[in-house]
Amino acid sequence: MKITLTVNDQVYIRDAAPSKNLLHFLREDVGLTGTKEGCGAGECGACTVIMNGKSVNACLVLAPEADGAVIRTVEGEALNGELSPVQHKFMEHHAVQCGFCTPGMLMSIRDLLGRVPKPSVHQIKEAIEGNFCRCTGYQQIIEAVLDVTGQLTKDNKGELRHV
Ligand code: FES
Ligand code: FES
Repeated sequence: MKITLTVNDQVYIRDAAPSKNLLHFLREDVGLTGTKEGCGAGECGACTVIMNGKSVNACLVLAPEADGAVIRTVEGEALNGELSPVQHKFMEHHAVQCGFCTPGMLMSIRDLLGRVPKPSVHQIKEAIEGNFCRCTGYQQIIEAVLDVTGQLTKDNKGELRHV
């Protein structure tokens, strides 16, 4: 069937097999490969995208179910080649290592910051609890979110402190 998706403000009309999931549709039919496939079963969060304002695991959504949806993927984060403020803070805090989890992580954080402009550590942990990261230990990711929301400061020894 033909489906229409608005992805990162651009409209795509494509044929979608009834059994194709949104993750494969985005990667193979729309050509946006930033969204990653880890488990393919709703467990790892690597495929997280924003669909109609809410984060979803794209591997669990059938492409035909997404007909008419407004989607945001990691490719929509940087504007005119400039990293988003969250992406800058990820770089600054070494919250990206192998980077495989990063696209999904950024989408879960986008969802969180859309709802809670100054999230607590607990709220950040809750928001990314479905996003597995095997490299960073999560602390740098949490620090990046605290920093971009103005909740980190340096003490007189140069150590980062939560304000
Ligand atoms: Fe979708 Fe793992 S690939 S949750
Ligand atoms: Fe490697 Fe998160 S940076 S899995």
